Amino acid sequence: MLDPDARDLLAALTLDEKLSLIHGNSKFTTAAVTRLGIGELVLSDGPHGVREELEPHTWNTARRGDDFVSHLPCLSALASTFNVELAKEYGDVLGAEANGRGKHVILGPGLNIHRGPLNGRHFEYLSEDPHLTARMGVPLVQGIQAQAVAACAKHFAVNNQETERKTIDVEVDERALREIYFPGFEACVKEAGVLTVMGAYNKLRGHWCCQSDALLNQVLKQEWGFQGAVVSDWDAINETLEPALGGLDLEMGSDKCPSYDEYFFAKPLKAALEASKVPLSAIDDKVARILRVMMHTGVLGARRRGRVNTWGHREKARQIAEEAVVLLKNERGFLPLDLDKADSIAVIGDNAIQVHGRGGGSAGVKALYEKTPLDAIVARARQGASIDFAQGYARDASPEQAAKLRALAVRAAKRAQVVVFCGGLTHELDREGFDRPDMKLPFGQDELLAELFDANPRTVVVLITGAPVELGDWHTRVPALLQVCYAGMEAGSAIARVLFGDVNPSGRLPTTYPKKLEDSPAHSVGEFPGKDGVVRYKEGLFVGYRHFDSNRVEPRYAFGHGLSYTRFEYSNLELPARVNPDLSMSVKLAVKNTGSRAGAEVVQLYVRDVESSVPRPLRELKAFAKVTLEPGETKNVELPLAARSFQFYDAEAHTWKAEPGTFEISVGSSSRDLRLNGKTEI
Ligand code: GLC
Repeated sequence: MLDPDARDLLAALTLDEKLSLIHGNSKFTTAAVTRLGIGELVLSDGPHGVREELEPHTWNTARRGDDFVSHLPCLSALASTFNVELAKEYGDVLGAEANGRGKHVILGPGLNIHRGPLNGRHFEYLSEDPHLTARMGVPLVQGIQAQAVAACAKHFAVNNQETERKTIDVEVDERALREIYFPGFEACVKEAGVLTVMGAYNKLRGHWCCQSDALLNQVLKQEWGFQGAVVSDWDAINETLEPALGGLDLEMGSDKCPSYDEYFFAKPLKAALEASKVPLSAIDDKVARILRVMMHTGVLGARRRGRVNTWGHREKARQIAEEAVVLLKNERGFLPLDLDKADSIAVIGDNAIQVHGRGGGSAGVKALYEKTPLDAIVARARQGASIDFAQGYARDASPEQAAKLRALAVRAAKRAQVVVFCGGLTHELDREGFDRPDMKLPFGQDELLAELFDANPRTVVVLITGAPVELGDWHTRVPALLQVCYAGMEAGSAIARVLFGDVNPSGRLPTTYPKKLEDSPAHSVGEFPGKDGVVRYKEGLFVGYRHFDSNRVEPRYAFGHGLSYTRFEYSNLELPARVNPDLSMSVKLAVKNTGSRAGAEVVQLYVRDVESSVPRPLRELKAFAKVTLEPGETKNVELPLAARSFQFYDAEAHTWKAEPGTFEISVGSSSRDLRLNGKTEI
């Protein structure tokens, strides 16, 4: 409940003052109630850094010169680290900078599941897997909120596409909802005490998410015990009664209303109250939730000071970016490049010179700086080494220009000892409001790569993308392949430090890399993006590797996959023959670095219910640990399992259930590289 002085405040507020606290009074603030010392509540995007200042009542930039910030890697990149400590530190930086920029609520993290590879906001979300999403989301929220800033778990729920995002109605079964799409939100509410949740634009089973009594009152507030405030997505509601009664607490961005006084939670709600269509208790509950957010964020008093653009923040951004780089392929130890022997390097590709911070929509960041791969390779290469750059392709090139760019790139490749190709996507395709048309590499990159390998087989490919892409025939010829999602202000230096071996890559894929779009369950079993205003998640809970493994579809690269410059050996798996009565257990094993250089391994544990009365995936990630090991070093790893590790959601009984019988425990380096197996019984 509210602490005393907030309760007194609630009692002292007039009705008009109460209503002024539960709807916007500018694009990103609520009105102050100066009579009672209540300041404005200031909200701001975004998940990867504090958004630039906009004009108070429009979406136009305010053209300030004091709103440059640290630009952190996108959340898909953070998830690739599989490092929960880094997730906490990510939150520390984001919260400190939001505080430093005078914000009380930062509108992140995005916790929606990667249902399919075309989602334009794929880069804003963590993973296809609910366990990884939850385990990374909780410390991230804790980090943000430790800085006296409220985090915002968004977009609740099943906002997994941008096509028709403001009208699409999602049909999904209860188990998929509970076992796949909810866990990230549920964990951030129950374990991290997230202070705000943003309702999604779309409908769920015919009800708008921002006003669904079932979703907001019954699940979020009553079942999960959410004590914070539900904020609408911007301009997401179109009426007063259902949101007021359905659990929405704060209306933002209602551009369709002619003035803030005519927002749905302003005069119309007052009229509804006076007509006894909405009880005063409903208003008081909203205000109490807003006051709770204000208490935590210094709106009602002092708060610790924030920090912006510190050296420490940049170092953290670099560390996260370095751990986000995923080494997908490395034949015959092609990488790392030996600097002493690298006399001539050709850096080719438009993404070698592109920066990505500002793009993508509301997640855009006005970065203090952004190091490109070319900047960093030039800075890192040996003195005296010659470096050529050729753009290779361009987003707006005519066929003639494209041919010329390709010819120049081929010439540079022929002359060089080694080629570093930087390609992939940009926020021209990875962006809010739109889904990608396909999974292809755009702007003729596949054709260019074929010519580059003809010109020089010693070509490393670095894919910078917000989501998986189809790899062309060149894939069989590439000796080394790196994948990194938009990795923030230090992305370039992270890529260079991995290429030259200063950093041993430890990233793992947080989402399956399909060979082709049709292999993705959202496109082969389910619907994407739906038809006649409805999208049916017919794949149910068989999302991502759950589909690929259970239906024996070969991925291009598996969930959890990522190579290292060293090797790891697994041994001594220990697990009890029987699970404890409370369905907990501890799994132990040893991991040894059998290579010649230090490195970090992401030990992953998957559980399989060998016989069950309901369809269950072949295996599901239920624990992971990142272990750093010196050459020759062995560490004992302990992976705790809790009840949910064995349970499925029984939709009839509305409860989680683990059936008696045998469970298989597999531990390994990816969902398809399982090294040790054991069985246990319930
Ligand atoms: C946008 C996005 C949401 C963002 C909000 C404010 O439409 O869906 O993620 O935080 O509006 O910009």
